[in-house]
Amino acid sequence: MKDISVKYMGLDLRSPILAASSGLTTQLEKIIEFEKAGVGAIVVKSLFEEQISNEAQFLESQSHDYPESADYLHHYLRSNSLERYLTLIREIKSQVTVPVIASVNCYSAGEWINFAKEVQSAGADAIELNIYSMPLDIHKSSLDIENSYLKVVKDVSRSLSIPVAVKIASTFTNLPAFVNSLKANGAKAVVMFNRFYSPNIDINRLSLYPADAFSHPEEYIKELRWMAIVSSLVKGIDLSASTGNYDGISVIKQILAGAATVQMCSALYKKGGVVISDAISELENFMTKNGFESLVDFKGRLNYSSIENPDKFERVQFMKSFGSK
Ligand SMILES: Cc1cc2nc3c(=O)[nH]c(=O)nc-3n(C[C@H](O)[C@H](O)[C@H](O)COP(=O)(O)O)c2cc1C
Repeated sequence: MKDISVKYMGLDLRSPILAASSGLTTQLEKIIEFEKAGVGAIVVKSLFEEQISNEAQFLESQSHDYPESADYLHHYLRSNSLERYLTLIREIKSQVTVPVIASVNCYSAGEWINFAKEVQSAGADAIELNIYSMPLDIHKSSLDIENSYLKVVKDVSRSLSIPVAVKIASTFTNLPAFVNSLKANGAKAVVMFNRFYSPNIDINRLSLYPADAFSHPEEYIKELRWMAIVSSLVKGIDLSASTGNYDGISVIKQILAGAATVQMCSALYKKGGVVISDAISELENFMTKNGFESLVDFKGRLNYSSIENPDKFERVQFMKSFGSK
């Protein structure tokens, strides 16, 4: 038996594989299946800021005859959605022994801080902030947006005693610098990267349709480079890989690149908890073959500062030797 335990943002996890935030992590029977398969922690489905305000708007629109009830409805729905989420956290905590990480999608600091405190009181071991808002204002700079994200992280981190992780998109101009700022503002871990819903275009119907919600296995390559670079340049923060991790091979690669943990979502939707137990077996076999006793024996071994030619991670353009055929 190899030691595959890991410390992730101060939490002791028995394995580095996490069930990522999704509809699956609202279902107790799935969560129990993942725990039996060896999952290290559960990231619960995000509670979305819009989810609450949209519900409220819909009901308010039904109540035009009684405009004075709008405030009440808004308040009622808000506490109702929040209450459902807190109940879910409590239920999950009562059913599993692995750490439970709550997730909140937020972009406006003020309101959510009180909610985050309630999530903490409900027993969540940590919170993952899934921060993103679509930038549509051409007069707003990237710095403005980054600063607003940092404010959310700072305010939430300051008001909680549980650790805060931040799940980010891959589209930052200077990703290592941004991760460093997240750390400076209190984040204990960064999840790289979220994968978003995307619209596609149907050229026969001249309309839009949703692109595939699930990733493809080769998508893990995108975060591998950033895992290797960020883990070298930003010390003192844990990194979690997300997107395209389907098996033990990609888990091993992410750890070699510097990840503390690896999150799975699409693979769990497609194949169930068995992908976790299979990935753990692959990880243990790899460790046996290479004489590694624990994950620290090889974590970051192939990251940006550990390899002989770090420019291999810097190369982004296809040079003649690759592209001339
Ligand atoms: C159906 C579905 C629901 C998701 N819901 C959330 C969510 O609520 N919060 C979140 O941070 N990520 C959510 N995600 C993103 C996943 O957690 C994950 O980051 C993404 O799917 C990439 O990982 P994968 O390649 O393992 O699927 C969702 C993904 C899917 C497919």
